[in-house]
Amino acid sequence: MDRLCVRGGQRLSGEVPVSGAKNAALPILFASLLTAEPLVVGNVPRLQDVATALRLLGQMGVSSRREGDEVTLEAAAVSSVDAPYDLVRTMRASVLVLGPLVARFGRARVSLPGGCAIGQRPVDQHIKGLQAMGAEIHIEHGYMVASAPRLKGARIVTDMVTVTGTENLMMAATLAEGETIIENAAREPEVVDLAQALIAMGARIRGAGTDRVVVEGVASLHGASHRVMPDRIEAGTFLCAAAATGGSITLTGAQPAGMDATLEKLREAGAAIDCGPDWIRLVMSGRPRALNLRTAPYPGLATDMQAQFMALNCIAQGAGVITETIFENRFMHALELQRLGADITIEGNTAVVRGVPALSGAAVMATDLRASAGLVVAGLVAEGETLVNRIYHLDRGYERMEAKLAALGARIERQPG
Ligand code: UD1
Repeated sequence: MDRLCVRGGQRLSGEVPVSGAKNAALPILFASLLTAEPLVVGNVPRLQDVATALRLLGQMGVSSRREGDEVTLEAAAVSSVDAPYDLVRTMRASVLVLGPLVARFGRARVSLPGGCAIGQRPVDQHIKGLQAMGAEIHIEHGYMVASAPRLKGARIVTDMVTVTGTENLMMAATLAEGETIIENAAREPEVVDLAQALIAMGARIRGAGTDRVVVEGVASLHGASHRVMPDRIEAGTFLCAAAATGGSITLTGAQPAGMDATLEKLREAGAAIDCGPDWIRLVMSGRPRALNLRTAPYPGLATDMQAQFMALNCIAQGAGVITETIFENRFMHALELQRLGADITIEGNTAVVRGVPALSGAAVMATDLRASAGLVVAGLVAEGETLVNRIYHLDRGYERMEAKLAALGARIERQPG
């Protein structure tokens, strides 16, 4: 298994391009199942999760062709409506095939994802919503087996804000008969990006980006092309890394709109930040100030940024309280950060981080995608060498992370294992 070797202590400086958003690319790739015509998706990042999505679609009979950052998909000859356990287990977002399959083919057989390192993450809201639209769904041998003649529009109120749940139901509703209203919908920019792709395919959707999404079903969707939005989590990760090292960087191809909570927290930590429509510049001098933060659905601070901000707090002046409200077990990285000398006390869903003047490099283990990113940020400021093991997690969601960081002056290399 590959690992990353980071020698800390370099200030990051320079320019770095932001890739297409993983969490927008995945649902949009799966939206190709909704039409027999070609869907051309631009700005698709080269990630393990994208490869997994294309493999899953390929197994179903969807053809895909990549040229540069553009992927063309065609679901004209779908031969299987199965999403097997071995793929869903490695990437939970695979459950996003459920809505499109039931909507277009009237049936689907999708593995339940099971447990996950950061919490329980059930998919009951996806099931409940589709059932409200008339699908019959039962669990058989670990699979959700769904069938429906044609879905019918319904008013759905989700019990909690769920990103992929909203996306699954929105996709399903595009081909349902009549109007679907999703209340308590996720407002994440990635939901809006998916809605825009669907609208380009002929879907009738309004309200994406608010907590009430209204979809007027149509008989069929057509081909379209769509460019995936920039990745706000990758952007935020680089900004945290620069802030931690007292660096000065410019992100290009970024989309600061949609990053308010992250940018606000970085300013509170002491960073000077300038933005244009598609760039963000951060300049940091001295140690960051400790932050209190609480993750929340958008527009609150993304849970996917929590580990990176925790790394920043580890070397900050003062103490900060981090409250994780989305996933119940998302502090695994804290134990690894302690191996680097961080002072963190965890109680339930709250972590108190007392900043220390310096961390010291050690071998650490990545437990999930964003935890890995937090460990890399910490490694960049730790004295000596930090070995981040199990970086297959990182490869799921970051495009060439070590190359991008090295271009900013970090001493970082991948060691094949
Ligand atoms: C998405 C993102 C992930 C991010 C998360 C929260 C993608 C591919 N992944 O994951 O990076 O960390 O949003 O911003 O976009 N829940 C239920 N029942 C359900 C659905 C969700 O109880 O049917 C709970 C979850 O366990 C969690 C909360 O709702 O506690 C929010 O989860 P959700 O927004 O669904 O996360 P994902 O869509 O899986």
